[in-house]
Formats: sequence, C-alpha cells, structure tokens
Amino acid sequence: MRFFSTVSIVCTAALAAFSVAVPVAEESKVVARQSTTSIAAIFSTAFTEIAPLAQSLLYLNSDNATQATITPIISQISAPLNNALTSVNGLKSQGVSQNELLLSEDGSEILSVGALAALIAADLILLFKAIGVVLAIVGADLLAILIPLLYAVGILVYKILFVVLGLVAGLLFALTPLLGSIVGVLDTLGLTVLLLLLAL
Ligand SMILES: *[C@@H]1O[C@H](CO)[C@@H](O)[C@H](O)[C@H]1NC(C)=O
Repeated sequence: MRFFSTVSIVCTAALAAFSVAVPVAEESKVVARQSTTSIAAIFSTAFTEIAPLAQSLLYLNSDNATQATITPIISQISAPLNNALTSVNGLKSQGVSQNELLLSEDGSEILSVGALAALIAADLILLFKAIGVVLAIVGADLLAILIPLLYAVGILVYKILFVVLGLVAGLLFALTPLLGSIVGVLDTLGLTVLLLLLAL
C-alpha cells in the first residue's frame, strides 16, 4: 500500500512536470524559428562552408602544399568561424532556453546533449585532421609561417566552444571522450587553452 501510494505520488509529480514541459518545448520551437537559431544550426552553417575547404587540405600533396594554396584556405576557414562566434555570442546574450539551444539544424526536433556532442565532434575532427595534414606535409620554413595562422583558427574554435560549453549543461562531459584523435594536432599547435577547455 505504502509503496503504491509513494509510486503514485512520484508518477503524478512526474506527469505534472511533463504536462508543463511539453507546451514550453512547443512554444520554444516556434520562438526559435522566428528569432534565433540553435547551436546545431550554427555549426552546420559554418561547417557547410568549412567542410570542402578541409577536404582540400586533407588531400594536399607535395605539388599543391604551398603557401599560395594553403594561406587563402586558412582565411576562408576563419570567416565562417568568426560568423559562428558572433552567432553563439548572440545565443548567449539572448538567454535562450536549453530546448532552443538543443534544436536540430532544421528546428524540427530537440537533440540530446549526446547527439549535439557527436555533431560538434565530427566537425572538430574534420577540421583538425585537415590541419594535421598541413602540419605533416609542409617543410619547416612554411610550417613556421602557417603555425600562427592555424593557431589563430584554433583560438576561434576555443572562443566558440567556450561559449557553447557554458550554455549547455553536460556537453563537455559528452564531448571530451569523442576527441581523442585530435589531441596530437592541438598539442602540436600549442593550443593548451583549447586542450584544457575540452578536458583533454
Ligand atoms: C591538391 O591536389 C589533390 C590531388 O589533385 C587534390 O585532391 C586536393 O584537393 C588539392 N588541394 C588543394 C588545396 O588544392
């Protein structure tokens, strides 16, 4: 008897919380589509531009691994990252809800924190694997020129993640285990701040 009444109290409380939560989530979606965007949408916008650039770096060879080829690609990668930084700062200053922050790219569903972490990790791995190819293929003279530029890209990523990790509870915990493969590149670039931020 006692057990059942406890269960039913818990269930009633849970249902009450649920019935309140649903309309809030629905409302948030509408607001999100009108006035703001989500973290997934911001990353997707940036990495739609970055992915083909990263691909071209992944397939650099000794013929085209030159300063003339690589330098413009690095600045083309920086532009969408700067836009993403502006966008995540916008999310922060608007104080949007967790549900809005976690909306999928098209706003049709609320992602789990784990799903958002997987999406962010895939983008980061693509970018830093490509940078890793650059570090591996160019000679010492060109490396000395490129490292500060690539470090600056890493700092942009740091600034974006600093905001994003502060917005979504549990995201760091989900993200850290996914990023082991880029530790070496971050280390080579001297991106200690990013390694620390990501608990790597
Ligand atoms: C370098 O050449 C390879 C092979 O043609 C190509 O796949 C890659 O995209 C080129 N990269 C750049 C940055 O031009």
